[in-house]
Amino acid sequence: MRKNIVAGNWKMNNDLDASIELVHELILATDDIEIGNTRIVVAPTFVNLQKVREISAGSRIEVAAQNMHQESNGAFTGEISSEMLLNIEVNDVILGHSERREYFNETDEVLAKKASKAIENEMNIIFCFGEQLQDRKSGNHFKIVENQLKKGLFHLTAKEFGFVVLAYEPVWAIGTGETASPEQAQEMHAFIRGLFADKYGKEISEEISILYGGSVKPNNAKEIFSKPDVDGGLIGGAALKVDDFLAIIKAF
Ligand code: 13P
Repeated sequence: MRKNIVAGNWKMNNDLDASIELVHELILATDDIEIGNTRIVVAPTFVNLQKVREISAGSRIEVAAQNMHQESNGAFTGEISSEMLLNIEVNDVILGHSERREYFNETDEVLAKKASKAIENEMNIIFCFGEQLQDRKSGNHFKIVENQLKKGLFHLTAKEFGFVVLAYEPVWAIGTGETASPEQAQEMHAFIRGLFADKYGKEISEEISILYGGSVKPNNAKEIFSKPDVDGGLIGGAALKVDDFLAIIKAF
């Protein structure tokens, strides 16, 4: 079933003490709030994953990794496999974040392999994609997003989409304070749902959750989340402060 999700991508922020403090605060703050079937996810850095996972066991807070490698093991210095994540009971992973694509040269082809690997191991994926500013200015944004989805995900079977959550993150809105308008987000999300309907049928397209990411803040979350095809958010900066993240969660 289509779920609402608010996910905090901590990126390369929060040392061990700060991670422990933030997750403790979040657990306390979300213990008794009424948020229906909204999932709350946080993605700490690799070194703090296990600790945050242990602390959040039994709470409303789920824990995801920010990335993983497409192979199970081997000579890939500095990398982490999906098996290693599962081994510390982390079942969720963000793939394809624009910062991974831009600074670490992650291509659609590599991301397609990562997606397959995660699903082979029954991990849940938050799959990110989105256009650059020049793509939007030139009116190419729909084409770019369509290509990213086709190359990164459309090799999967309909059934495998049970493991996938999509996150549309226009690169020009990430960390810039400039957010897509609720109408721009809705327009793109409806387009994405249409692509899935064409390829996999209406039922799958209606069931897949599509998050919006890019400068979601307490003061704009409610309006963005109110759009019919926006099922939640992938939050960067505002996920680092418990009050802001909580206000965004409560925007549902
Ligand atoms: P900001 O919310 O800081 O713009 O970051 C969004 C993001 O990249 C989440 O993955």
